[in-house]
Amino acid sequence: MNVARTLTVDEAGLVALAAALAPALREGGALYLGGELGAGKTTFARALLRALGVGERVKSPTYSLIESYRVGALDIHHLDLYRIADAGELEWLGLGDLWQAGTLLVVEWPERGAGALPPADLSLQLAHAGDRRSLSAMPGSARGAAWLRAWPALAAAPSS
Ligand SMILES: Nc1ncnc2c1ncn2[C@@H]1O[C@H](COP(=O)(O)OP(=O)(O)O)[C@@H](O)[C@H]1O
Ligand SMILES: [Mg+2]
Repeated sequence: MNVARTLTVDEAGLVALAAALAPALREGGALYLGGELGAGKTTFARALLRALGVGERVKSPTYSLIESYRVGALDIHHLDLYRIADAGELEWLGLGDLWQAGTLLVVEWPERGAGALPPADLSLQLAHAGDRRSLSAMPGSARGAAWLRAWPALAAAPSS
């Protein structure tokens, strides 16, 4: 059975965790980043994309909804659905066309795109924990479970 694994980290720790996850994501898939405003979703996504080779160009898609990158053969789409009231508003984005094997989707506020997004391979949930942030990881597919196994700090973290 899939269980969530949870760690509590400072900002540098979160950035390091994102960088450690990155290599497994080069094959593409769907990563959901949940959590309230300020929980660290964009901080995590930015560190992840940098580690994948996007470099310093990572912008928050808060206003654009989507920022896309290509690194080598990997297409990456970073979405932030905060401003979406219901998934129907996403039709114009043509998400179905974006979603192809080998593409990496990193989605903030995924619950606002329910029904219009592919299912998560791995769902991360971030939450305020005083000055730090808790990070829970829950696989949603065999691929996500493999990502988690390849992510030692989280794979060894307590289940919750
Ligand atoms: N442990 C931590 N992990 C991530 N961000 C942290 C942490 N501690 C403090 N912060 C701060 O919290 C804010 C997180 O913002 P952001 O990543 O944009 O959140 P979100 O995208 O979830 O709204 C940033 O200002 C960051 O500097
Ligand atoms: Mg954000």
